[in-house]
Amino acid sequence: MAAPGVQRGLEDVVALESRICFIDGHRGRLIYQGYDIRDLAAQSTFEEVAYLLWYGRLPTASQSNDLRARFGALRSLPPALVERMDTMPVESNPMDVLRTSVSALALFEPDEARPGASSIGGAQRLTAALPTIIGTFHRRRSGLPTIRPRPELSQAAYLVYALLDREPTELETRAVDVALILHADHELNASTFAARVTASTLSDLYSAVTSAVGTLKGPLHGGANERVMELLDEIGTPELAEEVVKSKLSKHERIMGFGHRVYKVEDPRATILREWSKKVGEAKGNLRYYELLRKVEEVVHREKGLYPNVDLYSGSIYSLLGIPHDLFTPIFASSRVAGWTAHVLEEYQDLRLIRPTAKYVGATDLAYVPISERTG
Ligand code: SDX
Repeated sequence: MAAPGVQRGLEDVVALESRICFIDGHRGRLIYQGYDIRDLAAQSTFEEVAYLLWYGRLPTASQSNDLRARFGALRSLPPALVERMDTMPVESNPMDVLRTSVSALALFEPDEARPGASSIGGAQRLTAALPTIIGTFHRRRSGLPTIRPRPELSQAAYLVYALLDREPTELETRAVDVALILHADHELNASTFAARVTASTLSDLYSAVTSAVGTLKGPLHGGANERVMELLDEIGTPELAEEVVKSKLSKHERIMGFGHRVYKVEDPRATILREWSKKVGEAKGNLRYYELLRKVEEVVHREKGLYPNVDLYSGSIYSLLGIPHDLFTPIFASSRVAGWTAHVLEEYQDLRLIRPTAKYVGATDLAYVPISERTG
């Protein structure tokens, strides 16, 4: 139990003002720069949303096409980085590869070469490069051909090509584009806060994104989408969902994909991803994961009153495309990098070192004992 005045996990602490994202946890609303996520998911593209997050307004068709072309032009990695990636063990956790590679990328892009090192140019570079980093590693461990920048592909289509070496169908492209839109930002979630803390010291954009990738990896945050799939594979069939979930709850285990620090009702992103999980499952003639998830939802809500969050259905969509489970959190990162960088740039514009305090509850005024007299 926390001491009086201590907000464990900074729960409900308002740390700063921002124009980028608003979450109404009681009404289940999510807004990016003034636009409702339901409108953006229904009508926009990841390119439009990345532009919105960075510039604070929706792009014209020409500005959106220019950003798409810019992403295409910035996808390639320095050969020196690819050489180092080739030394990373193929058994590595892809989030460890991503974190290490983002950090190393800065070494091979000296400031004068980095497209606007700590500006929107740097944000565009990192957003363009993350799918290439993930794809480069996965292709090597899978024996797939060398990745090509494919500048004609949208970010969503390129992400699927990068991972699977094939062009996605129109439905698959739209499903991934919607997922990228939904994951692009989420106010001061842990990984975005980590990025802002890093930026608040006037450290650089690549360091801030490295901090964010390391933070997103955790199963209480971005890593949950992969663990949802492990749960589904453990349950196997809808008939066993009740037994397996209740057994876990009886042992006070967390059911991944449920609950949220801010939402007290259903996460609006889960609502949209549930629809896309069914749509893609029907198109593929495989509703196994969708039906399992619906049953798990029913049990968890009945037993714990919890709602699904963004991580519950996303993996079922990626899995239907044939993407391996351990790439789901890297996919989350390839979208959230737009939000991370938008928040870093906002921090630079109104900088204040982020430095909370702790309530000290340890000993005080202890007499120093010379080491020669200490007995252990
Ligand atoms: C993301 O912050 C963001 O915006 C993050 C994110 C984003 O877009 O950036 O939305 C993405 O990270 C979504 C969350 C993904 N994580 C998971 O799905 C992991 C499972 N969820 C939980 O660990 C939990 O719900 C958290 C971490 C998400 C939120 O935890 P809180 O706010 O700290 O809540 P808590 O741990 O204090 O739990 C309150 C109660 C507890 O019950 P009691 O012990 O008081 O009886 O609810 C229970 C918890 O045990 N509970 C759960 C549960 N989540 C909360 N019980 C079972 N399964 C769960 N998933």
